Formats: sequence, C-alpha cells, structure tokens
Amino acid sequence: MNSDSREELKRRAAERAVELIEPGMVVGLGVGSTAIHAVRRIAALLKTGALRDIVGVACADSVEREAEALGIPLTTLDDCGTVDLTIDGADEVDPHLNLIKGGGGALLREKMVAQASRREVIVVDSSKLTSALGSRFPLPLEVIAFGAQATARFVASLGARVAFRRTSSGSLFHTDQGNYILDCAFGPIEDLEGLAAALERRAGIVEHGLFLDLVTDVIVADEDGVRHLRASSPVRATPCSSRRKLPG
Ligand code: A5P
Repeated sequence: MNSDSREELKRRAAERAVELIEPGMVVGLGVGSTAIHAVRRIAALLKTGALRDIVGVACADSVEREAEALGIPLTTLDDCGTVDLTIDGADEVDPHLNLIKGGGGALLREKMVAQASRREVIVVDSSKLTSALGSRFPLPLEVIAFGAQATARFVASLGARVAFRRTSSGSLFHTDQGNYILDCAFGPIEDLEGLAAALERRAGIVEHGLFLDLVTDVIVADEDGVRHLRASSPVRATPCSSRRKLPG
C-alpha cells in the first residue's frame, strides 16, 4: 500500500470516531499521524457549526499548539477531572484491544487522559492489528535521566533489546516532561500483566506504553471499509471522585 492510501485510511478511521462526539463533551485529543485527523475534523466541524459546545484536552504540547491554532477551545485535565471521550492512535492493537502506544513519545499523558476517560476510542489503519503485542513494534518506556543506563540494563535483563530513542538529528529524544524514551524490543509478549507489573515496580521508569484494559472502542480502517470494535469489559474512569478538587 502506498503512503497516500495509508493516510486516507487513517483519516477515515479518525473521522468515523469524531462522529461519536456530542455537544457538551470534554474530548481528549490524542497524538500521532492518525489522531491528528480527528483534531482537524473537529476544528472543521466547529467552524461550520455542525459541532458545538465541546472542549478539548490535549495529550501533548504539540497537539495543544495545533488545536489552539485551529481554534479548538481547550481545558486541562486538572480543570475537567473527567474526559467524556478520547480519540487517540496506537502502534499495535491485539485481539483483546490491548495496545502498545508511545511511538510519538506521549505515552504518559496519553495514559493519564485514557484513565480519566469514560470512553477511549482508538483509531488505526489495519496494519496496526497484531495477534500479540510486541510482535512488530518495540515497547516504549518513559524513563528519567538519572540512572537511565542502569534502567536500560534492567529492562534488557527482562529479555528486551533496548535502544535510547533519538531525534532525526541524532540527539536524545526528550518527552514533554523532559525524560528519555527507551524503545524495548521484546518480541511477542506472552505475559502482558506480568511485564507491566515488573516495569511498574522499577523506580526510574515513569510509565510504559502497554495500555491494558483501557480501551472501549477501536475503529479500524482498511481497503474494505471501516470497522468499529468494542471492548467487552474495559476498566473505566471513576468520574465523580476524580472531579473533586484537591487543595493547592
Ligand atoms: C503517541 O505517543 C503514540 O501513542 C501514537 O498515538 C501512536 O504512536 C500512533 O501514532 P500514528 O497514528 O502516527 O501511527
């Protein structure tokens, strides 16, 4: 498939997801070359008046800048507490609708927004579907700079080939939080929960790109059309308690 038709599939998936947005919603704006089509579509619909009274929560500084430039009203996770519906991309999607995310380096904020979302809608072209996470895409980890080499050695001891992510100019990639990304090639991951738990136990790893039981919907586009997959029992955000304001 050439890159134009792949781009077209991404656009179709993203635009189908935008149809789920209703007036009054707080909408999570995800990161990447697929989710950006949703941002642009939302902006276009707001401009014509076909969509109104929505506010966005951006999952990355770059998305915030683009949404602002396009005239989408924005709020913060702190202010809204709960997001009604988030549209985001993914690097791999397994048959249980678990994901690898973080190809754009925004996995931490994306996961925070996903956990605060009543509905997490993932938009992909069919090349992202896999029978086992890790088969094609390395698992991104956000790690702090202190002891990053030691953290990389720890992750390698779990069975991964580990690389520090670099920019196109060759310098180390920094996340919006100023941390590094380790791209960890595990191959097909058999025990997703076990690996997630091991990574979560290790100080220095801020977040990993496994999104387990977080997704409610996946919208997949391929040459035959657009399919809407629904998760059977995702763990959802707890809206009311998260609306409480903390002091300070
Ligand atoms: C950003 O950190 C990622 O999680 C993206 O959502 C993911 O990499 C998908 O990006 P594309 O839509 O560009 O493939």
